[in-house]
Amino acid sequence: VPTGKLQISESPSNNADTDGEAIFLSLVIPTYKERDNIKNVVKILSQVLDECISGRYELIVVDDDSPDRTWEVAQSLMEEYPQLRVMRRQQERGLSSAVIRGWQAARGNILGVIDGDLQHPPEVLTQLVTEIEQGADLALASRHIEGGGVSSWSIVRRFLSRGAQVLGLIILPSVLGRVSDPMSGYFMVRRNAIAGAILNPVGYKILLEVIGRGRVGAIAEVGYVFCERKEGESKVTWKQYVDYLHHLLKLRLSTGHLGTVSKFSQNMGFPIGRFLRFGLVGLSGVFVDMAVLYLLSDPTTLALPLTRSKIIAGEIAIFNNFLWNDAWTFADVSMQQQEWRQRLKRFLKFNVICLAGLVLNVLILNLVFNFILPNRYIANLIAIAVATIWNFWVNLKLSWRV
Ligand code: GDD
Ligand code: MN
Repeated sequence: VPTGKLQISESPSNNADTDGEAIFLSLVIPTYKERDNIKNVVKILSQVLDECISGRYELIVVDDDSPDRTWEVAQSLMEEYPQLRVMRRQQERGLSSAVIRGWQAARGNILGVIDGDLQHPPEVLTQLVTEIEQGADLALASRHIEGGGVSSWSIVRRFLSRGAQVLGLIILPSVLGRVSDPMSGYFMVRRNAIAGAILNPVGYKILLEVIGRGRVGAIAEVGYVFCERKEGESKVTWKQYVDYLHHLLKLRLSTGHLGTVSKFSQNMGFPIGRFLRFGLVGLSGVFVDMAVLYLLSDPTTLALPLTRSKIIAGEIAIFNNFLWNDAWTFADVSMQQQEWRQRLKRFLKFNVICLAGLVLNVLILNLVFNFILPNRYIANLIAIAVATIWNFWVNLKLSWRV
């Protein structure tokens, strides 16, 4: 079992199998508790592949030390199926890393993956191989193009699956926009399209990692129907949805792929990320302000006069916001100007601008309330919004000079 970085090498250390024939395809079958499926899977996959690329493939079962001893059953098949290899992982866990570890041990230049529960119809392999032979860097089995489908999913599961896809499209359109079925775990990719990239084992969706971090050119898709499971059970739980979200964000942040919202705001010249951080810091200031106001003015605590308390509370909140904005919202700028004089200068500017923002806030509240909309809360919301934008924009230009 390979260890260390999850990285695929440019060329396999050894490309020939025992009879000296060059291996074309290495197909990984990740398994966890598939004891009742594994024999059938190996048998059918061997039949299909013998027919289409006889002798030029290997099957690599990567089992995570299943308690039902799937690995043992798989090992017992090796005599009958000489193209079969079995990896039993005892240190690591998880579907994505299992697939990558399998690929690291692979001897072929085409790296594939298929589920070990017969939910992925094996006949489709032939079409995937053809697509690769015709030049595709990645050949994907998809449920969402012609010839594809999901046999008998409930409305809820269909909805969740599509919802996850739409969410992904918003967060990472440059990756998910390239394929009709980004959740597919049934595909083949050319080794040199992913070699060298450090892959991340987060979550279930290895395809996102491959497209997001690799250099994948042409992509071909083949329709398939996701069959029902006959033996064993799915390992998908709520955790997979959380992992998926985590995975999207991680890819987004670490690869420079932009989401729809960011693309839009970038085109409009508006720094949306900074603005959101600024807004969040502002919100933290509200809590600080409230807490200090309580400590100073509440009859059960210090019972100071309200106006005096509020001025102190407001000033402390401004100080709080400055610290966070300097360390987080505008970290890139303040990193370059760390001297305490420079910091002090920024703080004074921030202070003056925020006080002006407060005056603006009061003015607008009165204006809106008296002349436009006689509802004080909505008027206040509008006033807060305007003051926030003022605070953000003027501080951006004057205090941190972005
Ligand atoms: N080694 C290893 N380690 N294998 C695992 C693990 C793990 O932690 N978890 C699951 N597997 C194996 C299962 O044994 C099975 O062969 C395959 O990965 C898919 O797992 P399922 O639990 O059957 O997932 P599913 O049926 O919901 O399929 C979903 O994931 C597939 C990813 O391969 C769907 O999203 C499919 O579209 C997708 O193809
Ligand atoms: Mn399954």
